[in-house]
Amino acid sequence: MPEDRVMPDRVMVESRVLTDDRDRVPSSDAGPAWWRSAAIYQIYVRSFADANGDGIGDLAGIRSRLPYLRDLGVDALWLTPWYVSPMADAGYDVADYRDIDPIFGDLAEAEALISDAHAYGLRLIVDIVPNHCSDRHPWFQAALASPTAPERGRFWFLPGRGDDGSLPPNDWRSYFGGPAWTRVDDGSWYLHMFAPEQPDLNWEDSAVRAEFEDILRFWLDRGVDGFRIDVAHGLMKAAGLPDVGADPDPADLPYQDRPEVHEIYRSWRRVLDSYDGDRVFVGEVWLPTPAQFIEYLRPDELHSAFNFEFLCAPWEPAALRAVIDDTVAKHAVVAAPPTWVLSNHDTIRHTTRYGRDDTAFDMGNKRHGAPSDLELGTRRARAAALLTLALPGGVYIYQGDELGLAEVEDIPVGLLQDPTWARSGGTDRGRDGCRVPLPWSGDAAPFGFSPGADARPWLPQPAEWKCATVEVQAADGESMLALYRRALRWRRALHAQCGPDLEWLELGAAALAFRRGGFACVVNFGPDSIRLPAPDEVVLASDVVTDGRLPADSAAWLRIPQ
Ligand code: GLC
Ligand code: CA
Repeated sequence: MPEDRVMPDRVMVESRVLTDDRDRVPSSDAGPAWWRSAAIYQIYVRSFADANGDGIGDLAGIRSRLPYLRDLGVDALWLTPWYVSPMADAGYDVADYRDIDPIFGDLAEAEALISDAHAYGLRLIVDIVPNHCSDRHPWFQAALASPTAPERGRFWFLPGRGDDGSLPPNDWRSYFGGPAWTRVDDGSWYLHMFAPEQPDLNWEDSAVRAEFEDILRFWLDRGVDGFRIDVAHGLMKAAGLPDVGADPDPADLPYQDRPEVHEIYRSWRRVLDSYDGDRVFVGEVWLPTPAQFIEYLRPDELHSAFNFEFLCAPWEPAALRAVIDDTVAKHAVVAAPPTWVLSNHDTIRHTTRYGRDDTAFDMGNKRHGAPSDLELGTRRARAAALLTLALPGGVYIYQGDELGLAEVEDIPVGLLQDPTWARSGGTDRGRDGCRVPLPWSGDAAPFGFSPGADARPWLPQPAEWKCATVEVQAADGESMLALYRRALRWRRALHAQCGPDLEWLELGAAALAFRRGGFACVVNFGPDSIRLPAPDEVVLASDVVTDGRLPADSAAWLRIPQ
């Protein structure tokens, strides 16, 4: 190989001499709290690993893959809901918050998973779903059984409008499509901002508040390191449940971001802080303005929240720079760490998005099936990995990001499971395309996801995933997995050695470049290669650096003089 070509393999050797604290056990030693710079890996439980061969991921499967997660180099795991559920919305419809769904395992298995994860130096965050429960939850069943049951007050039951009450109580629409109200046998209606199987809880009822604080304690007592809060902005509703009207202000909707919601999190924070260790709340806060968003991250509320503004941004330098600046500035106001995320179980995998003409993500218009150049998308996804892992703060990695998986866009409609498909009247394929079970090994489905060759994963895996398995990528020093492993290892040293500040370097309109102390990250958005500032000091690159030049659609990390 010519001297002036910097290949990632050389970089890997180099990175071994950096601080290696990978085998540490969680502790709350002095120094910045772990969550301020954590790499948190999202496990979509149904699709991560299936131990018993029924085609659905389970807790025993996760336990068996903990060495993989340790070797990947992440700090913590966030697991999507594992509770007892009829699975009308893949577990986001909880029937018993204190037990594990038998599809996934049992409470003893969950406790074993928590303690195994800790033994591997991985923290574990569980999903809590407080906005709604399942229609099979005992409270809702009791509420349905009698209009005078006290459980009715824990939901939103109202009479309908019109002479015979046959019209919904207001004009709210479900996020999954259709009206947000369903009528029951006695003629009244109940509110569900998601599927009808997910009745919204009434957080003005003190029993609801007491119950959830008790649920938090139940899991904190079992050693979890924190909670990802589902629909954190949605719990309170405006008094009187007024109509939204024809042209609502998205920043002032009666069903989200009501000011009273913050008191709930202050109260939860007191519960969390009464436990030992650094435990955390991570909010799913989708709101239109930064001013609304940061209120959730005040010092006595949540620790962290997903940066959806970054996830939604197009793959363009000016747009990304603006989001990064905005993110850093708004988090500084409340002294919370910024976070970065490219994909999750509700979006379109970014390898696919970045190969499209329009690379932005819009929850309301996911553009399923829009043409995508996956080779280009993969190059950009590699660069995006280095960009997000270099930025100050925390990062969320969705399972399969590290394999560069693309959205699966050809699942036969008869196999689609996401309620979005039916509720949108077959116009929105929903989120199944990013939830297909992971490929671990072998040449054919189930690709080691389930034991044995005959198991049928709950969603079909594409045949071409035989080239994307963990087995194949672990043996290839140029793979996406190899890149993530090196970058995550490097990132530990980076965060230990560099402060939270970021300084932009000006390398032309097609590049994004910044430094943190003696470290720099350069991303080239193309179309031409660019000259790197310190080409001999490249420590990691998403593509081959030749003659000191970084190719289009790639990124490099370098050491630079301070
Ligand atoms: C959140 C979850 C999503 C779920 C919804 C309702 O947005 O991420 O998967 O469908 O809440 O619980
Ligand atoms: Ca299983």
